[in-house]
Amino acid sequence: MTRIIYVNGRYLPYSEAAIHPEDRGNQFADAVYEVCEVREGRLTDETRHMTRLERSLGELGIPLPMSRAAWGRVLRETIRRNRVRHGLVYLQVSRGVARRDFYFPSPDTLPTVICLARRLSASKSEALAAKGIAVVSTPDVRWARCDIKTVMLLPATMAKQRAKESGANDAWFVDDEGFVTEGGSANAWIIDREGRLITRALDQSILPGITRSVLLDLLKREGITLIERPFTIPEAQAAREAFITSATSLVMPVISIDGKPVGNGAPGLIA
Ligand code: PDD
Repeated sequence: MTRIIYVNGRYLPYSEAAIHPEDRGNQFADAVYEVCEVREGRLTDETRHMTRLERSLGELGIPLPMSRAAWGRVLRETIRRNRVRHGLVYLQVSRGVARRDFYFPSPDTLPTVICLARRLSASKSEALAAKGIAVVSTPDVRWARCDIKTVMLLPATMAKQRAKESGANDAWFVDDEGFVTEGGSANAWIIDREGRLITRALDQSILPGITRSVLLDLLKREGITLIERPFTIPEAQAAREAFITSATSLVMPVISIDGKPVGNGAPGLIA
């Protein structure tokens, strides 16, 4: 039997289905999803799943792609076309297709909607339930591995969008102890009153920036003092200069932080 997937209004065989490579879900994990159980061909807890979906969409500011009634039709039609009696139905909504940019695209961007249904073996899950399962404990690192350059960029897109909405260009993330980790898509630096450069040391809380590492080499060559340690927002606001580094911004002076000017509120000499 050919499996069928719903993509943006069409029910297609998997071999014909596609979404755009510049989909926000693909590039920024800028998407939400739901999974509902299908039992005896019927959806389980549909209303609760729809309520959570609408909440998730609302929290991310993604427009509702369709009414609850329309969702109901899409879910059931996907289940029907895949002849699922027992299994799951999965739906995913992304913010849609746009040229890669952390800031949200124009609000009229159409969300991308996917819906698939899959059979699961009822007897296998019953057998497993009869035996029970084992678990192992693991540190909750969801998502505390900013040292890996993954596309799990949703928190960064949200932070940068908020920054834009408040008239800024970028956001600086601050950890639980009040120290700056890095920018939304760049490493963060300050220069203290003595002219020393300060940037956070590499650990799991920041991306090991290539531009950062090149700058480190340059500083060594020029004999400029660098201190790798965390710094706070008040310290950065009181610094002589601040700047960010990345492949696209290179060395970009930061002239204000949370509305307070850094130095004399203009790009500094060293940056
Ligand atoms: N971002 N930190 C974060 C979270 C980043 O996303 C980036 C780069 C950097 C700087 O790394 P590099 O110097 O290697 O560019 C630090 C790129 C530019 C982006 O996502 O567009």
